[in-house]
Amino acid sequence: MHSDFWLERWRTHQLGWHRDEVNPALVRHWPSVGLDPASKVLVPLCGKTRDMAWLAHAGHEVLGCELSAIAAREFFSESNLVPDSRREGRFVRHRGGSVTILEGDLFDLDQSTLAGIQGVYDRGALVALPPDMRRRYAAVLARLLPPGVRTLLLTLEYDQSRVAGPPFSVPEAEVHELYGGQEIGKLFTEDTTEAPPRFAEAGLGGPSSPVRQKVWRIVPKRRHGCSCSRTRS
Ligand SMILES: C[S@@+](CC[C@H](N)C(=O)[O-])C[C@H]1O[C@@H](n2cnc3c(N)ncnc32)[C@H](O)[C@@H]1O
Repeated sequence: MHSDFWLERWRTHQLGWHRDEVNPALVRHWPSVGLDPASKVLVPLCGKTRDMAWLAHAGHEVLGCELSAIAAREFFSESNLVPDSRREGRFVRHRGGSVTILEGDLFDLDQSTLAGIQGVYDRGALVALPPDMRRRYAAVLARLLPPGVRTLLLTLEYDQSRVAGPPFSVPEAEVHELYGGQEIGKLFTEDTTEAPPRFAEAGLGGPSSPVRQKVWRIVPKRRHGCSCSRTRS
């Protein structure tokens, strides 16, 4: 997905993915991610989601990353905040309250910018990207984020042969492949009616061809105590 695609969506306000309310899956499942309320959370490809305001209200310092200046502007105006905005390398950093939005391309982020991040909330980020970009996205985050990061990931799964993304279908096997090496737990699965209208036009969304939302908790693998000194009898 080229950046022009997304910038055009923002310019023409075709924001089918955006919801004015906080995502119920965030409210329900965020506690099981197990993060301290004071920890810093990355919201990649953040748009202007109200979920950032919810996370900030829960005590987190929130760092969003988003291509569109319109998204950043609208997030802060809808939060009744006037951000402090300044250019920082390839990004424009907008900060208001406990939310910072880095306006720019996620693939230009560096390690020092993400230092201190302890959690990631991904709704509408992985599923916004085609397969090759998803691999790049997961690799970039794995390389740049500090060790020990805990993630809440929302994916969609449907028959990709019937309709093109975004949002893209991300099969379970791919979640395991992309986040391999971590403990991956599926918290919840539900059939969703939130897909774009063209999905229903393509026959998706019924019981025979569902659109499933899946909620994943991805955390570092637990270290098991070593039992190697046990002697055999
Ligand atoms: C499907 S929307 C989801 C937005 C948000 N996560 C939500 O749930 O409302 C994807 C967003 O990612 C942004 N985006 C796409 N590619 C990006 C990139 N490489 N770097 C930063 N933002 C990007 C788009 O502008 C768009 O706002």
